[in-house]
Amino acid sequence: MNSRELRRCLAQFATGVTVVTYLRLGRPRGVTVNAFTAVSLDPPLVLVSLAKTAKSGEQLRSRGFAVNVLAADQRDLALRFAGGPETNVPVRWSDGLMAPCLEGCVATLQCGPWDRHPAGDHLLYLGEVQDLTIYGGEPLVFHDGVLGGLGLGGREPASRPPRRDAAGIGHV
Ligand SMILES: Cc1cc2nc3c(=O)[nH]c(=O)nc-3n(C[C@H](O)[C@H](O)[C@H](O)COP(=O)(O)O)c2cc1C
Repeated sequence: MNSRELRRCLAQFATGVTVVTYLRLGRPRGVTVNAFTAVSLDPPLVLVSLAKTAKSGEQLRSRGFAVNVLAADQRDLALRFAGGPETNVPVRWSDGLMAPCLEGCVATLQCGPWDRHPAGDHLLYLGEVQDLTIYGGEPLVFHDGVLGGLGLGGREPASRPPRRDAAGIGHV
């Protein structure tokens, strides 16, 4: 097994897509994260996993953050906060209890810092949910390198492979 095979295998696990947002030096920042999971209901804990090489890996230390669950029509935002060339994509920020958050999402969780664990080449951040908002709507989905809506697999003939952009992200 090599790391390419491991990544490909893990990419078979379909996930939603979030942007984790936080305040740094008085300015809102965000990073696209699909390694987000629920951990505990009592106390209410969630986890995000960030690469040590990501700037946010260090910047999130001891900070409150918001987990913004992206809507199907927010693909450009996912790529923008993944360091893609979509830097001109307009971002609508809102104030939040622990951190600035994004408008137009399907849900937002406001988290206080709970714990942080190094794990290999990643840092695991646990946050305690302090506030939440559910807007609903169709979520953005990530599967096998493709970003799309819930019908992601069924929209194109199987014979037509998804297009891939420079970041290796496919789209429908
Ligand atoms: C759909 C998608 C999901 C991603 N999920 C993660 C993730 O869970 N953890 C991570 O560290 N990076 C993830 N990335 C990559 C980061 O968003 C990207 O490296 C970003 O530029 C890091 O920004 P920063 O250096 O400002 O922290 C993902 C990218 C995409 C497009």
